[in-house]
Amino acid sequence: MQTVNTLNALREAVDDLRRSRGSVALVPTMGALHEGHLSLVREAQARADHVVVSIFVNPRQFGPKEDLAAYPRQLAADQARLEEAGVALLWAPTVDVMYPEGFATSVSVERLTEGLCGAVRPGHFAGVATVVLKLFNQVRPDLAVFGEKDWQQLAVIRRFAADLNLTFPGVENILGAPIVREADGLAMSSRNAYLSADERAIAGLLNRLMAKAIGYIEGGEDVGPVLAGLEYEIVAAGFSSVDYAVLADAASLEPLDTAPKAPARLLVAARLGTTRLIDNMPVGES
Ligand code: PAJ
Repeated sequence: MQTVNTLNALREAVDDLRRSRGSVALVPTMGALHEGHLSLVREAQARADHVVVSIFVNPRQFGPKEDLAAYPRQLAADQARLEEAGVALLWAPTVDVMYPEGFATSVSVERLTEGLCGAVRPGHFAGVATVVLKLFNQVRPDLAVFGEKDWQQLAVIRRFAADLNLTFPGVENILGAPIVREADGLAMSSRNAYLSADERAIAGLLNRLMAKAIGYIEGGEDVGPVLAGLEYEIVAAGFSSVDYAVLADAASLEPLDTAPKAPARLLVAARLGTTRLIDNMPVGES
């Protein structure tokens, strides 16, 4: 596997891949790779001839009080995992390469970014959309793979790709892959590394409480009280607070207060000590 960290080296390496006439898939990440990331790599490998992974801890998507400095960085270990997975190319730019002096542009997606994580993390999705559009333009992949773990992020990326008539990749080639979970159901996340042993045990309860609430909603109980009960139980389980516990239309992310008729999602963000965990699950699909 080749690792490149300048735009010229990236261009040459991508040109080399394209010369062999294969298709190119991009898997954007912030590193500290786990099985969730590697599942995206495998999905990309199944659909394209060459896979490019990017690792860039993007300062523009972290708020001033968020964990940018503490975010886990482990490039050597990540390189070893990607090498073993058979990835052709790793794009690992520095902050100066991504945001050179004078950088002044931001991609802002309306409506979809206003609720859920957008309401508690102002500017976060503009930071994500800006860096992802840059990564798309730098690599010009035929397709890109993202995790459903970040459901709102995937919706935002598909929205700007459609709105801006992106062609590399086209919106139909922005693929979502299912959430990979630990044995107790906790959604894998680089941020799980922040959890103490006690917190880690509590974290594993979130997905079970969510599944229970979904059972009630699917059984016809009123959505409002079920969501209020879910928030209560998350805190009772040991979480510090709940940012949101929302039933939403799976595509528009508009909150629903009655049993869904179209594909819907239960989305939760909750804090455990200083760590913020998110999860989401389908409702009414079974
Ligand atoms: P990061 O949190 O590193 O995640 C990179 C990709 O891995 C995202 O598409 C995310 O949804 C996916 N992912 C994370 N945990 C997963 C899990 N347990 N199962 C399946 N997929 C999972 O998301 C970002 O980085 C950044 O915002 C980025 C898109 C790279 C832009 O900076």
